[in-house]
Amino acid sequence: MDHFLYRDGTLFAEDVPVSEIAAQVGTPFYLYSTATFERHFRLFDEALEGTDHLVCFAMKAASNQAILQTLAALGAGMDVVSGGEYARARAAGVPGERIVFSGVGKTKVEIAEALNGGIRQFNVESEPEMEAINEVAVSLGKVAPITVRINPDVDAKTHAKIATGKSENKFGIPISRAREVYALAASLPGLEVIGIDVHIGSQLTQLEPFEQAYTKVAELTEALRADGHKIRRLDLGGGLGIPYERSNSAPPLPVEYGAMVKRVLGHLECELEIEPGRLIAGNAGIMVSKVIYVKSGEDRDFLIVDGAMNDLIRPAMYEAHHDIIPVQEAEPGQEPARYDIVGPVCESGDTFAKGRDMTALKAGDLIAFRSAGAYGAVMSSEYNSRPLIPEVLVKNDQFAVIRERPTYEDMINRDSIPAWL
Ligand code: LLP
Repeated sequence: MDHFLYRDGTLFAEDVPVSEIAAQVGTPFYLYSTATFERHFRLFDEALEGTDHLVCFAMKAASNQAILQTLAALGAGMDVVSGGEYARARAAGVPGERIVFSGVGKTKVEIAEALNGGIRQFNVESEPEMEAINEVAVSLGKVAPITVRINPDVDAKTHAKIATGKSENKFGIPISRAREVYALAASLPGLEVIGIDVHIGSQLTQLEPFEQAYTKVAELTEALRADGHKIRRLDLGGGLGIPYERSNSAPPLPVEYGAMVKRVLGHLECELEIEPGRLIAGNAGIMVSKVIYVKSGEDRDFLIVDGAMNDLIRPAMYEAHHDIIPVQEAEPGQEPARYDIVGPVCESGDTFAKGRDMTALKAGDLIAFRSAGAYGAVMSSEYNSRPLIPEVLVKNDQFAVIRERPTYEDMINRDSIPAWL
């Protein structure tokens, strides 16, 4: 459920008409709903009620300071994967003890920044990385809390580019080698082993792969405890999918996920951590765009819109579906139409949808790409020298630009000219 609903035929974000924001901010832009972020965070928090837990927002999904502060105010932790994300989390006021550092290639500089600034734990992805964390911690006179990310060799049944839990993926340490790697960790003076981490992929639409992975984590917890390790925290990753195509998908709900987690892992009495990104942010944002031209091709009509693949890359990169709706709802009796919906970038891949049935539109009409709050703005670029599009946050009847659209000058002035020119 989200808070982008029609009222009298006009799309609203909470209590603000989307067209009003478009008139002030210009298109295209990302538009987020505070109430939806809050609702989705709470759904996870409540799903794990009765357990000692922390919901760490995977801020790779959306990392604007205003979004992070909205979630942090509810008690969210953050899952970060770079020094930049760590700095953003701290700048948003998130204390180090609520920040988890994931990612396969943490550099020594990033490790030192996190150790100096405070960190809940590092999720270690390889032995060389483990040694690097140990080295940095010893040199700073600190002890780094760690979990080891294990790769459970489970098929997440999702798009190949976002599956991470199979043995062929670059992530984690094979579960078959976990005990020797934990033994190494225990021998290193700069590390304190506190738990186990697992994340098998993103946009999972079934509970079964999670359950398979968590069952292996439960078995490993017992085995490692028998080896003398104090396993007291389990980081269960993120990955729960959202209904991108509302007409025909219904992924499991956080409450169902939570019930499964408690059933499979509850007896271990560990502190639980989860790292959802998409389910918190995805349906909390839309991308609003305007039709530039309706172009009749030989066998199809193209809707050429002012948003493009540089603004929302998911369709080009993952063949992802986004529902695309008109901001002004069709009047009864209005002509239906079928369009290929494309952006202005000079690539055929700049196609958001093919053969999409919708109401007939004309130049100047506004449309909204739903479910664009996660992996939307954060993956955008200035390809074709299209300035990054603004982000706007709504709360009840108020809205605020939370990231300005750079001017052409801002964009150009980021370059500098060497002395020889
Ligand atoms: N934890 C770890 C270690 C991750 O690698 C990820 C996502 C998450 C948590 C959050 O997963 P989520 O709950 O959002 O599914 N750009 C792609 C998605 C890449 C996901 C990468 N890792 C997309 O647009 O679909």
